[in-house]
Amino acid sequence: MEGFTLLLFCLALLNSIAAATVRETISTLQSINDDQIIVSPGKTYALGFFSPGNSKNRYVGIWYNEIPTQTVVWVANRDNPLADSSGVLKLNETGALVLLNHNKSVVWSSNASKPARYPVAKLLDSGNLVVQDGNDTSETKDLLWQSFDYPGDTILPGQKFGRNLVTGLNRFMSSWNSTDDPSQGEYSYQIDISGYPQLVLREGAFKRYRFGSWNGIQFSGAPQLKQNNFTRFSFVSDEEELYFRFEQTNKFVFHRMQLSTDGYILGDYWNTEEKVWSLHGKIPVDDCDYYDKCGAYASCNINNVPPCNCLDGFVSKTDDIYGGCVRRTSLSCHGDGFLKLSGLKLPDTERSWFNRSISLEDCRTLCMNNCSCTAYAALDVSKGPTGCLLWFDDLVDIRDFTDVDEDIYIRVAGTEIEAIEGKQLHKSSIRKPQTVFISCVLFIAILILCLTFIIYRRWKTRQKGGKMKDKLERDASVIYEHEKDDLELPMFEWSTITCATNNFSPDNKLGEGGFGSVYKGILDDGGEIAVKRLSKNSSQGLQEFKNEVMHIAKLQHRNLVRLLGYCIQAEERLLVYEFMANKSLDSFIFDENKSMLLDWPRRSLIINGVARGLLYLHQDSRHRIVHRDLKAGNVLLDSEMNPKISDFGLARSFGGNEIEATTKHVVGTYGYLPPEYIIDGAYSTKSDVFSFGVLILEIVSGKRNKGFCHQDNLLAHVWRLFTEGKCSEIVDATIIDSLNLPEVLRTIHVGLLCVQLSPDDRPNMSSVVLMLSSESELPQPNLPGFFTSTSMAGDSSSSSSYKQYTNNDMTVSIMSAR
Ligand SMILES: *[C@@H]1O[C@H](CO)[C@@H](O)[C@H](O)[C@H]1NC(C)=O
Ligand SMILES: *[C@@H]1O[C@H](CO)[C@@H](O)[C@H](O)[C@H]1NC(C)=O
Ligand SMILES: *[C@@H]1O[C@H](CO)[C@@H](O)[C@H](O)[C@H]1NC(C)=O
Ligand SMILES: *[C@@H]1O[C@H](CO)[C@@H](O)[C@H](O)[C@H]1NC(C)=O
Ligand SMILES: *[C@@H]1O[C@H](CO)[C@@H](O)[C@H](O)[C@H]1NC(C)=O
Ligand SMILES: *[C@@H]1O[C@H](CO)[C@@H](O)[C@H](O)[C@H]1NC(C)=O
Ligand SMILES: *[C@@H]1O[C@H](CO)[C@@H](O)[C@H](O)[C@H]1NC(C)=O
Ligand SMILES: *[C@@H]1O[C@H](CO)[C@@H](O)[C@H](O)[C@H]1NC(C)=O
Repeated sequence: MEGFTLLLFCLALLNSIAAATVRETISTLQSINDDQIIVSPGKTYALGFFSPGNSKNRYVGIWYNEIPTQTVVWVANRDNPLADSSGVLKLNETGALVLLNHNKSVVWSSNASKPARYPVAKLLDSGNLVVQDGNDTSETKDLLWQSFDYPGDTILPGQKFGRNLVTGLNRFMSSWNSTDDPSQGEYSYQIDISGYPQLVLREGAFKRYRFGSWNGIQFSGAPQLKQNNFTRFSFVSDEEELYFRFEQTNKFVFHRMQLSTDGYILGDYWNTEEKVWSLHGKIPVDDCDYYDKCGAYASCNINNVPPCNCLDGFVSKTDDIYGGCVRRTSLSCHGDGFLKLSGLKLPDTERSWFNRSISLEDCRTLCMNNCSCTAYAALDVSKGPTGCLLWFDDLVDIRDFTDVDEDIYIRVAGTEIEAIEGKQLHKSSIRKPQTVFISCVLFIAILILCLTFIIYRRWKTRQKGGKMKDKLERDASVIYEHEKDDLELPMFEWSTITCATNNFSPDNKLGEGGFGSVYKGILDDGGEIAVKRLSKNSSQGLQEFKNEVMHIAKLQHRNLVRLLGYCIQAEERLLVYEFMANKSLDSFIFDENKSMLLDWPRRSLIINGVARGLLYLHQDSRHRIVHRDLKAGNVLLDSEMNPKISDFGLARSFGGNEIEATTKHVVGTYGYLPPEYIIDGAYSTKSDVFSFGVLILEIVSGKRNKGFCHQDNLLAHVWRLFTEGKCSEIVDATIIDSLNLPEVLRTIHVGLLCVQLSPDDRPNMSSVVLMLSSESELPQPNLPGFFTSTSMAGDSSSSSSYKQYTNNDMTVSIMSAR
């Protein structure tokens, strides 16, 4: 009995010795069974049969010999598992490694690049399984095949990741399907060679993340991937080869790069003390890393909410913030210029063109001369910019990176360059006393010119006046007859009106409107009305009358004044409105005594009411209507201090997709008009947004936006205090007691967003309404478009005078600097 036990013991011992059979090579005479492994000379890696995770399938693979938790770095038969442990790995006579199953059919085999006479397979200390010809001990002599050429989900130090352009070999990574299944999963990672080579991680066929291209120092899409004390990166790109490789500087620490089953590139190392894999980094890092997050011509900045911002010179294509951007000014090819942008991940180079021996200057010329070239950049910046990279498509997949040391030059229309560079100079320019002086002098000069012009026009108009009058009256009846039927607006008898207003008695006069006087009237039934009597000698009267009747008749909103009817009698044209007991907003906020009647909560309600009224005009009414003359004087207050927008004499409706128009005849009220309207006559709903912003700031501060030089300009004043963080000094002293400070600050902030210089920067009214009512974070406002002249009317100026007009001292300082 004892002898039998001993025998069993001996058999078991023999068996375990067999299982532990450790060899260093496989020759044609040998084979490896399921229970055998081969180990590299330094004992770092082992090759043999294994089952991943919970799987029962058997695979041939390579793992770290010394790491207790089996970590597989390469799998031979990843797509063809063995169902049992009967597999055999052999090296056949022609030098192919073949894996056979139980009935001797080939499950997997390696390719020998050429037939071999004395083939031998070895596992090297780098983790590379090689087949060589001959028994030469030098490692890579007569290499027939190597596992490093066929990576799975892991790249080891020294392993080339990339392409051999001569043989066409593409060494790429592909994720495991799951931890139990090493078959090719849905993620792959490779060097793309269409266009300028770049590293791309894909999910199926779709790009998920771009490392971008190597610029001599780093990958433009992964600045976080840095040389450190343990690893060194290199990127080789020549006629024959194109590959990325990292080297391990400390041979006692194992490093690897892995493509995880859920699509992340992991860089980790074996922490010998804690006996775990520790992460160096994981990519994609944040939302902005995902491919084309923001669409064309937009840059993603993870610190912004929302993260997408159009590049300078571009504007949102749609309301969708991820929908990309389009040019503000379309290109004219030869009149274009290039805008230098820094600190960006360079756009997708899939359809780019490049040449390593062209200088950056020649690159610019090449791009300039080809009208479809959208941008250019240098290829290598490690020894100053060299090489030339050209883009011909929309620029996509851009993000902000502060530590990317590379510039890109983007093609934009010439006029944009001036506008943008002007704006950038504003930001950086420092005001000096002389420039303030010079700017004031310049302003006064410009002002005098304007006034002279206006007086000249007035004089001209008067000259024409007599002839015009007859014509106008004829037109009036024609237009009127034509439109009478579809107005469905009650017509008042002349006698009714004269009676109600006591024959337009001065006692009944409420005020002087834009194009005539307004009178209070009381109808027979006691109802109160306001009657606007359009001035007879205004050459614009007819048009305004028609305009107002047409627009307002169809509008119904509680923040718009209701038009009750009209009256035409000979030369007289009257509009009849609902009566607003508290007259206009300006009579309160700018009046020392009455301003106290409007405490902060009331002012806040007024601001919100006006915003909703304006939103209705811009969006919700049947036509998109731009009011063009929003101001405190045109916001009326009813008996309960509810605000209603009035005076639609200048309103203009936009049909269909029209969003912007220009006029040669700039009308409106000084102080409320945005620069682009004054200068170029361009108006859109964003012009009203500007006026609304001015109105907000006036309501909060109790001051009019008027004055000559910046000291008196409300927008400049608010902007200065805002940037200095002294917002509370902006607020009207009479409402200090009723203040809800966070709400006021928010309102001022929104006001500044509305008065930004560029119309595209200004939010639309729906955003404004949202911003006012929510507590979401607000974007930082850019410099406001302050304009300081006293009156506006006249033909549009050429855009070259834009800079002289748009701003205060700071703009002018640019001019004087040139
Ligand atoms: C060795 O294996 C390869 C791949 O299976 C095969 O093409 C080749 O014919 C085999 N050579 C011999 C001598 O069996
Ligand atoms: C191998 O064996 C399986 C069953 O064990 C059989 O279905 C299959 O046809 C065999 N293959 C060959 C090539 O003989
Ligand atoms: C073997 O080589 C052929 C052509 O050279 C290639 O298509 C195939 O993918 C290679 N197979 C392996 C396992 O390397
Ligand atoms: C090495 O290969 C040669 C033939 O190239 C052979 O004659 C020699 O015996 C081999 N030596 C060993 C140690 O395998
Ligand atoms: C991954 O495994 C699942 C389940 O076995 C399978 O349905 C799927 O086709 C596999 N995917 C790939 C890419 O092999
Ligand atoms: C790298 O090594 C240097 C010198 O040995 C050391 O001062 C530095 O802290 C190390 N850096 C890191 C990131 O370990
Ligand atoms: C790159 O430019 C150089 C100099 O202009 C030229 O000689 C070379 O042929 C170009 N190379 C390619 C690939 O176009
Ligand atoms: C501009 O470049 C594109 C892309 O390289 C090319 O197809 C086109 O012919 C070029 N046009 C001109 C005018 O050179």
